[in-house]
Amino acid sequence: MKIFVQPDEMRDWSRQQRANGLSTGCVPTMGALHEGHVSLIEVALRDCDRVIVTVFVNSLQFNNPDDYFNYPQLMDADTQICRDLGVDALYCPSPQTMYPSGFETHVLPGPISFPLEGVCRPDHFTGVATVVTKLFNATQPDRAYFGLKDIQQLAVIERMVTDFDLGIKIISVPTVRQPDGLALSSRNDRLTSDQKDKASMIYRGLQAANESFKNGERMSSALKSIANEVYAKIPEARIEYIEIFEAHNFIPIAEIGVNRSIMAVAVWFGDVRLIDNIEFAM
Ligand code: PAF
Repeated sequence: MKIFVQPDEMRDWSRQQRANGLSTGCVPTMGALHEGHVSLIEVALRDCDRVIVTVFVNSLQFNNPDDYFNYPQLMDADTQICRDLGVDALYCPSPQTMYPSGFETHVLPGPISFPLEGVCRPDHFTGVATVVTKLFNATQPDRAYFGLKDIQQLAVIERMVTDFDLGIKIISVPTVRQPDGLALSSRNDRLTSDQKDKASMIYRGLQAANESFKNGERMSSALKSIANEVYAKIPEARIEYIEIFEAHNFIPIAEIGVNRSIMAVAVWFGDVRLIDNIEFAM
């Protein structure tokens, strides 16, 4: 496996693959790789001739400095996971390489980034869009892989790729869950085992709302109440938002119609923030 830390070296390698007629896939990550990342990498390995994983903890997208400093950094373990999976190249630039002194240009996403995470985490999506642009410029992939757990991030990146004519196919990959339903996240490691058990209720609340949808309920207020009844059983969980919106614009709706609709939640356990979502489906 090749390891690159400089964007021009990464780009040269990627261009060489293309010149050799090989397709490339990129899996952008912030490291601390878990089974969720593994599933993104496995899909990329099936789809593409060459797979690049990027590992970079992006300070620009953390609106809370403690969250940034506590973010797990496990470069040796991540490198081994990538080697074992058969990844072709790892791109892991330093913070100074990514944002050298004098860096000042940012990518500003539009209205799809404003609600939900955009309200709770000001500037988060500007940080994501900026770093993903830089990662795409360095890795020059044909395809890039993102998890559905971060559904608004996925939408922001899809919009950006379309708006900037980047010519990269964005592939969404289903959320990987523990057997009890908890969505895998690098932040789960910061939960106590008791919090981890209780955090499985996050998905149960979403599932309860979807069951009610299957039984005919279409009013957002009723569906949110059903999820909230589940969350009321875990007093240590602080719900930051619970919202229902259409997948194409993320604007909250009062009633589900014919368009694809999603329920998303953000929940705090102590100082750990978790997000999850479900698409309403019969
Ligand atoms: O989803 C993530 O891990 C990050 O937001 C990403 C896309 C790698 C950008 O830093």
